[in-house]
Amino acid sequence: MILKVNGNEFEIEAAARTLLEVLRTDLGLDGTKEGCGVGMCGACTILVDGKPISGCLILAEQVAGKEILTIEGLAKGKQLHPVQQAFIDERAFQCAYCTPGFILTTVALLNEDPNLGEGEIIEYLAGNLCRCGSYQNILNAVRKANESRKSVADVIT
Ligand code: FES
Ligand code: FES
Repeated sequence: MILKVNGNEFEIEAAARTLLEVLRTDLGLDGTKEGCGVGMCGACTILVDGKPISGCLILAEQVAGKEILTIEGLAKGKQLHPVQQAFIDERAFQCAYCTPGFILTTVALLNEDPNLGEGEIIEYLAGNLCRCGSYQNILNAVRKANESRKSVADVIT
C-alpha cells in the first residue's frame, strides 16, 4: 500500500493499524501526538485531502493514495507556515502537546472559511483539547494567522 505523506510516497506494509501508529512508528513522524487514542482530544489531527482527521480513528489503508499532511510537512523549508508563526507569536501553548493538532485544524479552518466569526471558530476547534488551558492565546493565534493570510498571497496550503 502506498501512503502519500507531505508530498512523498511511502510503501507501507498493509495491516490493520491506525494512521497515527503508522505515521509515528513506520515513518518517524512523531509530531502527530497520541492523547486519548479514542477520538476525543484532537492531539492526533492530520489533514487528509485538506480535511482534519483524527489519526487514531482511521486505519492507514483507508487513506491510501490520498494526500496526507502532518505538522512536519507544513513549513516550506525554513519558512514557517503563517499559522505556525502565529502560534509562536501569540505564545499559544504551554507544554505544546496539543499544538500540532490545533495548528493543522486551524489551517483547515482558514482554508474552508476565513470569514468565520468567533463563535464559529470556537465550534470548529471544539474537537481539539488543551490540557494547559491555552485557549485564549490559541484564539488570538487563529485571528493573527487569518490577518496575515489576507496580507500574504500563498499563506495557507
Ligand atoms: S489521540 Fe486521537 S483524538 Fe485523541
Ligand atoms: S499547551 Fe499543553 S496541552 Fe495544550
